[in-house]
Amino acid sequence: MKLRLENVGHAFLGRTVIEGIDLALAAGEIVALVGPSGCGKTTLMHIAAGLVVPLRGRVHRAYRRHAMVFQEPRLLPWLTARDNIAYGLACAGTPRRHRREIAAVRAREVGLEADDLDKFPPELSGGMRQRAAVARALAVAPDVVFLDEPFSAVDAGLRRMMQDHLAQAAAREGFCALFVTHDLGEAARIADRLVVLSARRRGIIDLRAIPDRPGARDERFVFDLVAAWSCEEAFAEILDGAGRLQ
Ligand SMILES: Nc1ncnc2c1ncn2[C@@H]1O[C@H](COP(=O)(O)OP(=O)(O)OP(=O)(O)O)[C@@H](O)[C@H]1O
Ligand SMILES: [Mg+2]
Repeated sequence: MKLRLENVGHAFLGRTVIEGIDLALAAGEIVALVGPSGCGKTTLMHIAAGLVVPLRGRVHRAYRRHAMVFQEPRLLPWLTARDNIAYGLACAGTPRRHRREIAAVRAREVGLEADDLDKFPPELSGGMRQRAAVARALAVAPDVVFLDEPFSAVDAGLRRMMQDHLAQAAAREGFCALFVTHDLGEAARIADRLVVLSARRRGIIDLRAIPDRPGARDERFVFDLVAAWSCEEAFAEILDGAGRLQ
């Protein structure tokens, strides 16, 4: 296991947000985390990444390097898109020429044009900023990637491209990923396993493997799977009465 959370619990200002979380990530595995707004997905992600020390339980890590895509892109406004993507490489001391090459490849993978690389974050659209944040994370060749709603501002067509990119890159490069999404179709398309968090019960209420290989599932399969999930009790907190995501 690359990452293992053991009986993790956390509270803010005395109010318990999550408790009794047991979760492990194997090499190359993509795990999707879903749950209603405010149930503690970001908190759990930050604990897994070591940004927040949990009040209870332990986190075991067995990897060299991880990367994070935050819920807001968090690009540095004084750096161009290129230098933002290459930021982790610059911190690691990668020579300038080499990091520019890596940044160009990672940018291309997420559909950013050569022109976009000279722009500063305020000159990029919200979707472009999110894609630059994904490119920045993958640029450091991480073993584990944490992604918090990474494609929420990306339009539908590009989102599909980004999902395929993440699934293919994980398979090719062998990293594992924990990603938060509000989109059950996204989870059904690219995750190996799905974890459902509850706000009411403050923990994992469902954990299941998704059949077939991420990225190789056809539209019909994804549609039927989400339709089947929508009828289940485990998803009641996420979906409103009409079966729509809240
Ligand atoms: N630094 C903090 N201080 C106090 N309370 C916090 C802090 N961070 C999060 N919380 C609270 O913890 C709960 C869980 O927040 P979290 O951001 O983890 O939710 P989430 O599941 O990611 O929600 P969303 O889907 O809206 O992003 C919320 O009630 C939030 O107000
Ligand atoms: Mg969140």
